[in-house]
Amino acid sequence: MTHNILITGGNGKTGRRISHLLNERNHTVRLGSRSAKPSFDWNNPDTFPAILNGMDRAYMAYAPDLAVPGAKDAIHNFTKAALQAGLEKVVLLSGKGEKEAEACEDIVANSGLNYTLVRASWFNQNFSEEGFLLNPILAGQVALPMPDAAIPYVDAEDIAAVATKALLDDNLNGKTLTVTGPDKLTFKEVVGMIAKATNRTISYHPVSLQEYTKMMQSAGLPPDYIWLFEYLFREVLGNPDNQEVSPDVEMVLGRKPIAFEDFVTRTAATGVWNGEPKTD
Ligand SMILES: NC(=O)c1ccc[n+]([C@@H]2O[C@H](COP(=O)([O-])OP(=O)(O)OC[C@H]3O[C@@H](n4cnc5c(N)ncnc54)[C@H](OP(=O)(O)O)[C@@H]3O)[C@@H](O)[C@H]2O)c1
Repeated sequence: MTHNILITGGNGKTGRRISHLLNERNHTVRLGSRSAKPSFDWNNPDTFPAILNGMDRAYMAYAPDLAVPGAKDAIHNFTKAALQAGLEKVVLLSGKGEKEAEACEDIVANSGLNYTLVRASWFNQNFSEEGFLLNPILAGQVALPMPDAAIPYVDAEDIAAVATKALLDDNLNGKTLTVTGPDKLTFKEVVGMIAKATNRTISYHPVSLQEYTKMMQSAGLPPDYIWLFEYLFREVLGNPDNQEVSPDVEMVLGRKPIAFEDFVTRTAATGVWNGEPKTD
């Protein structure tokens, strides 16, 4: 049986991979984002009915993050519109260890729709051309707080494979899947692996969260962005309970999750870690 599936964040890190996997299986995919036609904006519920019309399932990747003010209302309005549009199931991408995201998970769980929750650890792709940590790597100087946090980074390919399975397999209805990679790594270890694979000198400098906030302010980043990153570093990386490796990727996919080292080898081969840092 084939489905009509809406992929929000369809041009993003997980969405575009899910869309590819569903296309391979001959499902009909509609991409949902502000640049798509029709345009879909999480901040504008008026855009929800048109994008949901004719769909029977949806992948929900809220942007920028379920922790931000406004996310709960958007998730509530979206699930309500999805129910009205006759969707049978949604899969929500959530963040492992984010209290605010759990409130959004509850909204989905109580929406009346069938659902699967996919709680992801930090993505490997935060360090590649898709992520916010590419520039410091290109500059050869990575200053980040939380030096002791050992993070079970997960690959976006694995998140996409699990979310695709969840979209198609009703045996996963009502389940919360925690997706992590197989290894727990500190920032120092990550930077060391990338430096070795690229044969470059890249150093990691531990800074306090306050110093990191000042760095973001000096770089002219918007206050909302600074608030979110402070939250993510403090809440997600500051809590050792969030640093556990989960068996769920292997349970769902029947194979081991992608190791960070494999991501590094694959990404180094593309040459993206050998360019110049962007100055704008
Ligand atoms: N990165 C991590 O380590 C991590 C870890 C755990 C969970 N997560 C969660 O992952 C989710 C993001 O998923 P992702 O990384 O796959 O996506 P992504 O790469 O961040 O892409 C998001 C896409 O969403 C669209 N978008 C941005 N603002 C939008 C808006 N207001 N309305 C509609 N679309 C909008 C953008 O396309 P347009 O410009 O065309 O709108 C963008 O390409 C977030 O909820 C985050 O909390 C991330």
